[in-house]
Amino acid sequence: MASSVVVVGAQWGDEGKGKVVDLVAEHADVVVRYAGGPNAGHTLVVGDQKVILRLVPSGILQPHTLCLMGEGMVIDPLVLVAEIAALEAKGISARGRLLLSPRAHVILPHHVVIDGLRESGAGAKAIGTTKRGIGPAYEDKAGRRGVRVLDLVDPALLRPRVEAQLAAWEPTAKALGGELPSLIVVLESVRAAAEVLAGLVGDTSERLDSELRRGKRALLEGAQGTLLDLDHGTYPYVTSSSAVAGGACTGAGIGPSRIGRVLGITKAYATRVGAGPFPTELHDATGETIRTNGGEFGSVTGRPRRTGWIDLPALRFAARVNGVDGWAVTKLDVLTGLPVVRVCTEYETASGLTRNLPADDLASVKPVFRDLEGWQESLGGARSLAELPANARALLALIEAETEVPIDLVSVGPKRDETIIVRPAFA
Ligand code: IMP
Repeated sequence: MASSVVVVGAQWGDEGKGKVVDLVAEHADVVVRYAGGPNAGHTLVVGDQKVILRLVPSGILQPHTLCLMGEGMVIDPLVLVAEIAALEAKGISARGRLLLSPRAHVILPHHVVIDGLRESGAGAKAIGTTKRGIGPAYEDKAGRRGVRVLDLVDPALLRPRVEAQLAAWEPTAKALGGELPSLIVVLESVRAAAEVLAGLVGDTSERLDSELRRGKRALLEGAQGTLLDLDHGTYPYVTSSSAVAGGACTGAGIGPSRIGRVLGITKAYATRVGAGPFPTELHDATGETIRTNGGEFGSVTGRPRRTGWIDLPALRFAARVNGVDGWAVTKLDVLTGLPVVRVCTEYETASGLTRNLPADDLASVKPVFRDLEGWQESLGGARSLAELPANARALLALIEAETEVPIDLVSVGPKRDETIIVRPAFA
C-alpha cells in the first residue's frame, strides 16, 4: 500500500492541484509542501467559501492533518503570517498543526523589489513572473548567501546575512534604475512576523520520517507544474524550483524509496500564465470560452491565463519525468458545450513528426490534432465514469491510451463532491 503519495502538476501549473490535494488529504495524516513559495495559489472551495492558499499546505482544511512546509520552499514571512491569520479568521487554526522547516529559505523585501525591477525592465524578454521574489530568493540560496528560516528567527544571525544579500544585490538594483530597502527597513519589516513564525519551526524531515515509520500516510503537495520546473520545464520560461515529483524528495527531506505513488494532475485542456512557448494555445473565441467557463484568471496575480487544447506530447513527458502512476483529470466540465474537443497527439517539427516534447524549439513546433466530438450534457452530477457522456469518456480513454497512464480521478466541478474517484490515492 502506498503510504506516501506525491501530487504533481503535469502542465504549467494551475492544474487544479488545490482541490485534488484537499480530497486526498482527507485520507492523509500528513501533508507536505515541498517546493515554491507564494507564487502558488491553491484555490479550494469548501461549502460556499473559497480559500486561496499560497504557502500553507492545502491539508490545513482537514482538521486532523499535520501540515509541513519543507526545505524546498521559499517562505515570505509576511505572506505566511497573513495567511495564517486569514485562516484563523475563517475558524481554521494552524496552531499545533503547522511545522516550518528551519532549512527553508526566506523571501525578503529586497527579493520582491529585484523581481519587480527585472520584470518591468525586461520588455519583450520578461518571463512574466508573479513578482513575489521567488527567483531572487532561490538565486541567493544557490549563491550560498541565503537567509534560512533558522536565521530569520534569530536576530543575531539575520542581520549579517541580510547585510550580505543587500550588498550582493545593490549593483543589480542600480543597473535596473531602482533602489533597495535599507538594512534597517528590511529587518524591521520582518521582525514581528519572525516572532510569530519562531513558534512554528521544527525538523519537518525528521517528523515526516517518524510519521511514515509509524505507518502514517503522507501526501507530498507539489506547486507550479512540470513544464515550469527549473530543470525540466520550458527554460528559461520557468520558475526557480524543483516542481517535479523528484523535488518532493529533496524538498521534503525523504529518500525516493519512501515515495509510494505519483498522481499527475492535468486539466482536460491546457493553460499557461506568463510568457513562454505553448504549442496548443488558442487565440480565438474558443480560447476565450474556455477562459470564461474555466475562470482562468491567476489566483495570485489575477492575470488572464492563456488557454489551449490538451497536449499529449507534454503529458507523455510529464508522465516520464515524474514517473506518474495515475492521472487526475480536472475541469472536464469546462469543455461542456463545445462542438469539438481537440487533442494534440504529436508535433510536427523541422525534422519530422514527434510524440515527445523536444528540449529546444518548442516555440516553432506545430501541433497535430485529433478532433473528438464534444458533448452538451452537464457533468456535475456524474460520480462514475459510466455516468459521463460517451464523448467525454472518449477523451479520457484517448488520454489513457496515448500516455499509457491510467486515470485515477476526474473532476467534474469545483466542489469537493463533484469528483469521480476511479482509484483512491492511498489504495
Ligand atoms: P515565478 O515563479 O514568480 O518566478 O514565475 C516564473 C514563471 O512561473 C512565470 O511564467 C509564472 O507565471 C509561472 N508561475 C509561477 N507560479 C505559478 C503557479 O502557481 N501557477 C502558474 N504559473 C506559475
